[in-house]
Amino acid sequence: MSFKDQIVKERLPRHVAIIMDGNGRWAKNHGEPRVFGHMNGVNAVREALTAAGEIGVKYLTLYAFSTENWDRPLEEVSALMNLLVETIVKEIEDLQDKDVRLTAIGDLQLLPAECRKTLEKAIKSTSGNKRINLILALSYSARWEISRAAQRIAEKVKLGELDPADVDQHCLEQHLCTTDIPDPELLIRSSGEKRLSNFLLWQLAYSELYFTETLWPDFTKEHFYEALVAYQNRERRFGKISEQVTI
Ligand code: IPE
Ligand code: IPE
Ligand code: MG
Repeated sequence: MSFKDQIVKERLPRHVAIIMDGNGRWAKNHGEPRVFGHMNGVNAVREALTAAGEIGVKYLTLYAFSTENWDRPLEEVSALMNLLVETIVKEIEDLQDKDVRLTAIGDLQLLPAECRKTLEKAIKSTSGNKRINLILALSYSARWEISRAAQRIAEKVKLGELDPADVDQHCLEQHLCTTDIPDPELLIRSSGEKRLSNFLLWQLAYSELYFTETLWPDFTKEHFYEALVAYQNRERRFGKISEQVTI
């Protein structure tokens, strides 16, 4: 039985987040420069998005470029930015066909102007789509996001718009990039690395973590479904005891 057939449709995660890792090592294994790995990583993005859309996952967040990735060699950063523009231009029709609503989280001001323009245009043109939300984390890091939220809250308190007594979890969530997006129930990281690398630290508080050795360009729909099956075999207790959650 395929992994897809094992999935219980009634217990799907609403939101799956993925740390797409291993492009560089994949390229190295193929005797090619790192950018070749990033180019092939686009196929895996298509696989994950198609799988999520077909099975009925409503939100898919992809960690595409971290704040820390700005410190990579300039040549790689430029190649990644170009690839982002090219991919959006190439895939936009497919996003419309698949009824995908594209959004982005991160410090988008730091993106090169052309990149931001292409991204904003795609976000606008897909804003009416309903089947699945594709959220690209670009120039993103959780510590940046949480500090920015703290800064925005402090400004409101200073202006008298917010009472410090009202600064609670809900208030903080309202000032993150992910307002109105449910927390991911499942996080997938490819390439065998077992860390969060500054990704969604707040939102992943109770997510199930799934690590696969597969390098990102080799990631297929079946890998996505395999992760969903693993997720469905977990018991999510949220601090309670087993008997409380299984009744
Ligand atoms: C993930 O693959 C893509 C980005 C971080 C942009 P890597 O480029 O990190 O690949 P490895 O980890 O070096 O193999
Ligand atoms: C995390 O991967 C960032 C993205 C996938 C965009 P990295 O390859 O940058 O993370 P580290 O350096 O291994 O922690
Ligand atoms: Mg990496």
